Amino acid sequence: MDDYALAARVAVDLLAEHVREARDGLAPVTAQPDPDALASELEVERWIREGGMDAAALAKWLPRYLDATVRLHHPGSMVHQVGVPSTGAALADLIHGVTNNPMAKYEMGAAGATLERDVVRWLLEKVGFGADGAGVLTHGGSLANLTALLAARARVVPDAWRQGVPPDLALLAPPSVHYSIRRAAAILGLGEDAVIELDVDELERIRPDRLAGALERSAAAGRRPMALVAVACATSTGLHDDLRAIGAFCAEHGIWLHADAAHGASALLSDRHRHLLDGVELADSVIWDAHKMLRTSGLCAAVLLRRGHDLTGAFHQRGDYLFDQGEAIGFDVLDRAIESTKTTLGLKLFLSLAWAGERGLGDYVASRYDLTRRFYDMLSREPGVTCPYKPESNILCFRVAGIDQLAFRDRLLANGRLHIGSTTIGGERYLRLVVTAPDTDEATLNELVRALRASRAAVPA
Ligand SMILES: Cc1ncc(COP(=O)(O)O)c(C=O)c1O
Repeated sequence: MDDYALAARVAVDLLAEHVREARDGLAPVTAQPDPDALASELEVERWIREGGMDAAALAKWLPRYLDATVRLHHPGSMVHQVGVPSTGAALADLIHGVTNNPMAKYEMGAAGATLERDVVRWLLEKVGFGADGAGVLTHGGSLANLTALLAARARVVPDAWRQGVPPDLALLAPPSVHYSIRRAAAILGLGEDAVIELDVDELERIRPDRLAGALERSAAAGRRPMALVAVACATSTGLHDDLRAIGAFCAEHGIWLHADAAHGASALLSDRHRHLLDGVELADSVIWDAHKMLRTSGLCAAVLLRRGHDLTGAFHQRGDYLFDQGEAIGFDVLDRAIESTKTTLGLKLFLSLAWAGERGLGDYVASRYDLTRRFYDMLSREPGVTCPYKPESNILCFRVAGIDQLAFRDRLLANGRLHIGSTTIGGERYLRLVVTAPDTDEATLNELVRALRASRAAVPA
């Protein structure tokens, strides 16, 4: 056996053991060692200077590395919106790591390019975009948002690519929109001041009945809307904007609707949950992160356009040695992506689908959404606990009376059994769960409830 096969076998065996331990909850869900102590434990300096790692050395080194990782497969892992890679998706990373085909040019990876084309077609179909739709996979939702808004900019100001951006553009978005949207406004040359905040309700959802007011504010500021951003679902709360009502308003006023469905679009695969995305097909652009609920590793996102020419029209570059479209066979996606070299993102999503099937992934999404609702029911019955809303997705926020929320979270982290997050809603601090791990169950929540009861009992009356 050559060195590669030997080392890969060592790594795969250790990883399989790591996943087993995590799934059984036998190892801490998270580790937060001191970085300098960790660097010394991992002998970082020596390996950089001297090299020489081989299969035998890896067998000793990798367990120490894995001990300092966050165990996403652990049932107590309920923090952030990070996918728990399925077997197929995890293997895709290994396959790409070896083959390394930069498939944005067909000639540089026919298999990867073909898979990307076909999974994008599948995503377009799920969103409800017709045969005119087009899309591309990107390294993450932030880049997908940027790409979508670049396309919106090209529609409103076709010359912006060459001449720059006029000072009168506005981007309409709710205040709690993911920060990548404001970043995109800055990167695209609009400047963050171009973001005009939409009116929202007490749970930060866009008020469709107040959209006209935002248009008036935009006009009063001497600006014209480049796009309106709605979210499905919101990062903090997991709640969905009313895409149908917002879509109708945008259609009436000729405004580009961008639906940031990075997290929530996966609910389209569940018969019982797809209604949450009702109206998504009215959007001009949609983003969808497979590395959230479709169980690929980071990164694997899609930007999807209702009219495909809006995507190809967003980029105006020709004549480079990479843009010669003279191939006898195949197609390139360099003309529709910000990245030049890309990993074979389509392979990750394809193998995740190939393992579970679209129904299997839909059942997984449904099971996590349903369990979150059961968590809500349990927490709502718990004295001293407030949940500000019924969860619509796998994101749930709650507050525990009489204790410092962040200190409670820190104690959980130190204990190593539960990893939860926190957020603010309407300026108030909440604890936040994102139920993603396939093995999280009611026993996990019982453990959380016991921990919060103990915390409350420890507070002097
Ligand atoms: C609604 C929403 N949009 C965009 C993003 C950014 O995605 P990424 O982290 O893949 O860049 C996130 C990430 O959590 C998100 O929740």
